[in-house]
Amino acid sequence: MNRVITLLLLFVLYSSTLPAQKSSLQLSINSGEKIYTKKCAVCHSKNGQGKGKRIPPLVNSDYLMNNQEASIRGILFGQNEEIIVNGQRYNRKMKAVKLSDVEIANVMNYIQNSWGNTNLTPVTKAQVMFIRQEYSKDLN
Ligand code: HEC
Repeated sequence: MNRVITLLLLFVLYSSTLPAQKSSLQLSINSGEKIYTKKCAVCHSKNGQGKGKRIPPLVNSDYLMNNQEASIRGILFGQNEEIIVNGQRYNRKMKAVKLSDVEIANVMNYIQNSWGNTNLTPVTKAQVMFIRQEYSKDLN
């Protein structure tokens, strides 16, 4: 009998974490929006449209949505190699943006879930930390 109660209790506890998991992406997106407004909107514009041939768009960007790791690397370390975004060539420089791992996860979750972009698999702080460490090794 005790076991049944324990199992029941565990189930109740478990199911109460489900809605919390869903909204943790939403919380991350909300924090990411503030970071985006402060650190990214000046170039990529508030609505993620970018600026013509000078700054690539984030809205509906095949580069962002298909190259999550490279996008995170670009934010961490800057980028200036040639990239192609929605068929348009860009060969400009984006400086590294000084942000913590969790801030980068949040801003990635924001840009991948705004203006019609959707990626419900959240970028985590651990993932950013891993890319930071792996790539720093390559640079040394
Ligand atoms: C000073 C202007 C500037 C700022 C600030 C800036 N970017 Fe960029 N970003 C660029 C440029 C220019 C490129 C293209 C780089 C290239 O040609 O290799 C780029 C490329 C990108 C890309 C890959 C291409 C794409 O459009 O999908 C992503 C993703 C991105 N930026 C996200 C961000 C995020 C997130 C921030 C804020 C944390 C940010 N950028 C801040 C100028 C900027």
